[in-house]
Amino acid sequence: MAKKKLMVHDLIRMKQDKEKISWLTSYDYPTAQFAEAAGLDMILVGDSLGMCVYGYQSTVPVTMDQCIVHCEAVRRAATNTFIVGDMPFKSYQISEEDAVANACRFIQEAGMDAIKLEGGKRITSRIRAIADAGIVVCGHIGLTPQSSGQIGGHKAQGRTVESARALIEDAIAIESAGAHLLLVEAVPPEVAGVIRKKLSIPVYGIGAGGDVDGQLLIISDLIGQFQAFTPKFVKKYANVAQVVTDAVKAYIKDVKASDFPDDTHCYHMLEGELEKFKTM
Ligand code: KIV
Repeated sequence: MAKKKLMVHDLIRMKQDKEKISWLTSYDYPTAQFAEAAGLDMILVGDSLGMCVYGYQSTVPVTMDQCIVHCEAVRRAATNTFIVGDMPFKSYQISEEDAVANACRFIQEAGMDAIKLEGGKRITSRIRAIADAGIVVCGHIGLTPQSSGQIGGHKAQGRTVESARALIEDAIAIESAGAHLLLVEAVPPEVAGVIRKKLSIPVYGIGAGGDVDGQLLIISDLIGQFQAFTPKFVKKYANVAQVVTDAVKAYIKDVKASDFPDDTHCYHMLEGELEKFKTM
């Protein structure tokens, strides 16, 4: 039987029941198909696609149009999964009107169930405006890659009492602004645990330890596909880079040795046609 598609109230219930929620990024049709078939609870079409799919140095160059195309592909593959579309840089920074219009594109054009945007107190007006438009909103605090220039690079956050307190205030402000979900990235487990306890909305961690309601990882890290760097919090469950490299090497060897293709890979002429063809 196909699994039931989760909705935001199911995610809240899972928090209340202490049932951990599994969440991964996906950017394309095949991995989204595998993820849904494996029984994953949620997918994020993250702007990390800029690095994982396009080879950019950061998420900053990613555009709305790129995000929409990837969200559409993932939705086609995972029709029964709760999918969050990630709002890229410049899609919500400029004005509330812009933020609502772009959030609507994720829902209307790409069939997303929710959107995610980065930042704490300073973006609560955007969260409120998007939630008021009837859209499920996921906040994102801690290491926020779109503003890595301001926060000192891709560094863990909340490691001093002062910055931990600021993060907790951000989390409370995000919930009060109407967000339905919150992601906390690269913060000490103790800080994430306080945030989980203080909030009634589901709190997810990526690099935030185990005392949260759900876990997120980037699929390209999990399957060992992304090669540029591996954050401390990643657990690799496969080595796709090695599998693909080995397959390509074996193919090259076969081609050079004329071992591929063999007869099993060939189409044959129809009954009786080969004899006539030979006398042509
Ligand atoms: O874009 C993304 O995948 C993200 C994660 C790094 C949290 O926002």
